[in-house]
Amino acid sequence: MEEHVSPQADSEPTEVFLRACWRLPVDHTPVWFMRQAGRYMAEYRAIRERYSLLEIIAQPDLAVEVTLQPVQSLGVDAAIVFKDILLPLIPMGIDLEYVKDKGPVIHNPVRTIQDISALRPIVPEDDLSNVMETIQILRQELPAAVPLIGFAGAPFTIASYMIEGGSSRHYLVTKSLMYSDPNTWHKLMDKIAQMTADYLVAQINAGAQVVQLFDSWVGALSPDDYRQYVLPHSTVVLKAASETGVPVIHFGTATATLLKAMHQAGGSVIGLDWRIMLDQAWDHLGHDVAVQGNLDPALLLAPMPVLEQRVVKILEQARGRPGHIFNLGHGVLPQTDVESVRAVVEIVHAYELHAASNGEA
Ligand code: CP3
Repeated sequence: MEEHVSPQADSEPTEVFLRACWRLPVDHTPVWFMRQAGRYMAEYRAIRERYSLLEIIAQPDLAVEVTLQPVQSLGVDAAIVFKDILLPLIPMGIDLEYVKDKGPVIHNPVRTIQDISALRPIVPEDDLSNVMETIQILRQELPAAVPLIGFAGAPFTIASYMIEGGSSRHYLVTKSLMYSDPNTWHKLMDKIAQMTADYLVAQINAGAQVVQLFDSWVGALSPDDYRQYVLPHSTVVLKAASETGVPVIHFGTATATLLKAMHQAGGSVIGLDWRIMLDQAWDHLGHDVAVQGNLDPALLLAPMPVLEQRVVKILEQARGRPGHIFNLGHGVLPQTDVESVRAVVEIVHAYELHAASNGEA
């Protein structure tokens, strides 16, 4: 089993988000949102009219501004540094383009042992120095109560983009490589895992107080295939990040059947999507790990009474137990009304945790 490096009692954090990551008691449930900066916000769209996604990320002053937008506008309990999971692929030699209405496109997909050998090893502090600078500035500018989250894509999710050449529905090219040439698959995963471990540690050294590993698409795999083809590589990344002493969030979608294996791979917090009930998932994982989630992002498009009822239902399922971070089960959708997101923050913050805890507290 993995080890959790928890803080010493005399160095317990005061920030509510960090406390929840370590399963320490809190006076309200912390809340933040995956993709909390983005197109659903007018402030973001105003900047995007003048700069591309990669231009924003490359300029620390712009990336800082965009990161701070949801903190100021929503009152969330954590900030997530503005960048994208595919960013480190560029210095590795991947020709990446974000195409409007299509998403990421990779013009030189990685499919052979030669393609893998051609991937350049990177030094994140140098090759992604803008990200590190953005993190350093954010730590100066963020309110002390709002910790900064760094992140990376997990090996499977990153490999799927490299191999498919972009987003995918069935991951057929990825799975074909995995099943037909496991040696090549594991070589690629080794390379991605090493890069990702270094990248997360660099973000932590620059000032990230928590890191999240996004394995967004790993739910495409069976539990056996997850254990055989993915778990050893995610373990390398999660172990390196955990050994620094910061909390690590391990997230994926459609993972109801993979949760135990993901917990085994590591992470002090497991991200849950809405396809499983939060209480069932937590009971199944065991209460020695924190959980994050798990509102369906589509509910932010629902009428306010429906939204409120579903937010409260998730809080009730957490039963006031220390170690719940409220979030969506996946990222905020571009069609979302900012008012609905703000309402969720208010409902979560106003919720009486002690009333919910059935006398446990
Ligand atoms: O606020 C935040 O959460 C931080 C910013 C962030 C972005 N991408 C910025 C972005 C984060 C955490 C990500 C993670 C990311 N990127 C993931 C994992 C989370 C998830 O959604 O599953 C994945 C799979 C990607 C890859 C990616 N980037 C896709 C598929 C797309 C196109 C789809 C889309 O949403 O546009 C992107 C582009 C992207 N990354 C945008 C943003 C704000 C949209 C760019 C724009 O402004 O046009």
